[in-house]
Amino acid sequence: HEAEAHRTDLMTITRYVLNEQSRHPESRGDFTILLSHIVLGCKFVCSSVNKAGLAKLIGLAGETNVQGEEQKKLDVLSNEVFVKALISSGRTCILVSEEDEEATFVDPSLRGKYVVTFGWTLLIILAFTELSGSSHVCRYCVVFDPLDGSSNIDCGVSIGTIFGVYMVKDKDNVTLDEVLQPGKNMLAAGYCMYGSSCTLVLSTGSGVNGFTLDPSLGEFILTHPDIKIPKKGKIYSVNEGNAKNWDGPTTKYVEKCKFPKDGASPKSLRYIGSMVADVHRTLLYGGIFLYPADKKSPNGKLRVLYEVFPMSFLMEQAGGQAFTGKQRALDLVPTKIHQRSPIFLGSYDEVEEIKALYAAEK
Ligand code: AHG
Ligand code: MN
Ligand code: MN
Ligand code: MN
Repeated sequence: HEAEAHRTDLMTITRYVLNEQSRHPESRGDFTILLSHIVLGCKFVCSSVNKAGLAKLIGLAGETNVQGEEQKKLDVLSNEVFVKALISSGRTCILVSEEDEEATFVDPSLRGKYVVTFGWTLLIILAFTELSGSSHVCRYCVVFDPLDGSSNIDCGVSIGTIFGVYMVKDKDNVTLDEVLQPGKNMLAAGYCMYGSSCTLVLSTGSGVNGFTLDPSLGEFILTHPDIKIPKKGKIYSVNEGNAKNWDGPTTKYVEKCKFPKDGASPKSLRYIGSMVADVHRTLLYGGIFLYPADKKSPNGKLRVLYEVFPMSFLMEQAGGQAFTGKQRALDLVPTKIHQRSPIFLGSYDEVEEIKALYAAEK
């Protein structure tokens, strides 16, 4: 009977966040409204990714982004979807996206008119707009990578969306400083992975929970309650193709993974090339994910605001660690919105080893 009850007691992501909400009455449901719009964006991208090949959504969009990368059609579409969904939530004041050179300062007047034109979800957005009421409340700043792992789109390998949320500090004088904050100030962070299933992993600062989209219900259902990363792991995840340019400590650490001194068995290498997929596997199975600095890119490749910070936030909330080679990742204070940083994140004990190697280097 218990199993039966459990099966029908669906814990949807909305219900979960509402429960959370009751712990923060001051936010007056604004976060629930924001999250519902992020969830809508994820559902749309999930459905587009699933039919990308059929809907001629693969291939290049013929533009390049501020990163100097050729934008894929899905990069551009996903970016538009999230920007519009976040604006129509009526709860955001600044948006930072990997695909946009400048931050978007959300003008209250924009909100009402923003009717997102992508077919079936038009009605949902309208409904949400009604739900969120006509007022535009400047509450949150959202930093996001609308489509992470773009190099994997055309071959159908898992990709994802990454996001982080800051509470605005001074809503009457909103400046870029609102998003040039250390990751430890984030209110929430999460990612959605578009793989064999669509899984949304979220933390609002009290642990990490995973939700899987049930396409027949169109709802994200709680499937991974209170995720904790194993203290140690047997997998390391890095692009070995950059080994020639690594610094001493990184080289030593990877060497140790492959030729352990203490007679332990070597670690397995797993590298998908989509941060969301590599981090999701690391979170569930344990191990270490690294994108180190190298001679060509002294700050590594991953972007602080919408890749390093959200994933580091989740790792710490799940009992793991995240280190830049110099400091705790979440303590880093960014000075530019597309700034990069080296990152070592994953099982607590694995990151401890890397911290020791960098400390010895000093
Ligand atoms: P994005 O597709 O959003 O630009 O991010 C790609 C990132 C990240 O997903 C992944 O971990 C990394 O690029 C892979 O880089 P390499 O191909 O250099 O290993
Ligand atoms: Mn990119
Ligand atoms: Mn990315
Ligand atoms: Mn991206």
